[in-house]
Amino acid sequence: MSRAIVLGTGSCLPERVLTNSDLEQMVDTSDEWITSRTGIHTRRIAGRNEQNYQLAARAAGRALKMAGVEAEELDLVVVATLTPHMMMPSCACFVQAEIGASRAWAYDLNAACSGFLYGLDLVDAYLCRQPAMKILLIGSETLSARTNWKDRNTCILFGDGAGACVLSGSDDGRGVVGSNLLSDGRLWKLLYMDSPKSRNPELADDQRQGCFIQMTGRDVFKYAVRAMEEAVRGLLAEQEVRVEDVDLIVPHQANIRILNKLMERLQLPREKVFINVDKYGNTSAASIPIALDEANRQGRLKKNDLILLCSFGGGFTWGALLMRW
Ligand code: ACO
Repeated sequence: MSRAIVLGTGSCLPERVLTNSDLEQMVDTSDEWITSRTGIHTRRIAGRNEQNYQLAARAAGRALKMAGVEAEELDLVVVATLTPHMMMPSCACFVQAEIGASRAWAYDLNAACSGFLYGLDLVDAYLCRQPAMKILLIGSETLSARTNWKDRNTCILFGDGAGACVLSGSDDGRGVVGSNLLSDGRLWKLLYMDSPKSRNPELADDQRQGCFIQMTGRDVFKYAVRAMEEAVRGLLAEQEVRVEDVDLIVPHQANIRILNKLMERLQLPREKVFINVDKYGNTSAASIPIALDEANRQGRLKKNDLILLCSFGGGFTWGALLMRW
C-alpha cells in the first residue's frame, strides 16, 4: 500500500529576533525566569512583508526546490494554522496564488499546535488513495498578532514562523507508518483564542476579553506531558515498535520543561530528541515542520530512519505519528 513520503522540506523564520532582555523592557519578567521556566532564549517576530501566507510561501518555495517539484505540479495545498491574516480566503489560497500552484486546490486546517500532525495524517489518507498526487503541507503562524503583549504569562512563550513539506505516495516501505490522534473539547477553556467580536448581537458574548491567546499555564503543562506520553505509548504499542527502535523524535516545541518531562517518562535519550525551542519559542502548528526542516538540513533524517512526531495544543488536541523517512 502507498503511504505519504516527504520529498522535500523548507522553513522560513522572520528576520526580527526578540530576546528575553527585550521582553524585560516590555513586561515584569527576567531572562532568568523565562529561561528556567521555558528554556526559551529568543523568538522571531514577523514584520512588514512577513504576513503568515508570505512566510508560508517562502517555506514552500524552499521545500519545492529540495523536492525538485514545480509549483504547477502540485495537486493540493494544505496550511495548518490558527493565525491566518484574514478569516477568508484561507491562508492556503493566498499561498497558492503566491507560489503559482495553478492546478492545485487549497484549504486551511485548524487543530492549534497539533495542526501539522493532523495534516500529515490527512495527507497520508489522500496518498493511500491517489499515490501520484503531489501535496504541499505547511504549518505556519504569526502568533505575535494574537498575543497580549501586556500579559507576561503568555507573551514570553510564542514566536512566528513557517515550515513546509512536499509529499507524494510511495510503496517502497517508507512513509507514514501509523498515527494516534486525539482531542478533548471539554477542556477548551484552559487554552483558547477568541474570534473577532460578533456582528450579530444575539451571538455576542460580553465575557470575551479579546482576540488573543489565553491560557491556564499550569494545567496545560500537566495535560500536555500526560497526553503526549499516552499518545506515544499507545502508538508504539499498536505498531509493535520499541522506543529504542525510533531514530529521532521531533516533538512540538512548546517548552523545554514539557520536553524534559516527556523524555524522562518515556526514557528517551536527549540525543534522540530534536529541540530548537530555545531559538524560536512555541510556533504552534509551525513548530514540527520547522524542526523537521532543520533536522533534515543537518543530515539527522536518513533514508529509512524511523521518525516519531508528537504534539499537544489548544482544543485540547494531541497525538503521535510514526513515519519511515
Ligand atoms: N516572568 C516572571 N514571573 C512570571 C511570569 C513571567 N513571564 N509569568 C508568570 N509569572 C509568575 C506568576 O505570576 C506567578 O507569580 P505568583 O506566584 O506571585 O502568583 C509565578 O510566576 C508562578 O506562575 P505559574 O503560572 O504557576 O508558573 P509556572 O511554573 O507554571 O510556569 C509556564 C508558567 C511557563 C507558563 C508553565 O505553566 C508552562 O510552561 N505551561 C505550559 C504552557 C504552554 O506551553 N503553553 C503553550 C501552548 S500549549 C502547547 O503548545 C503545549
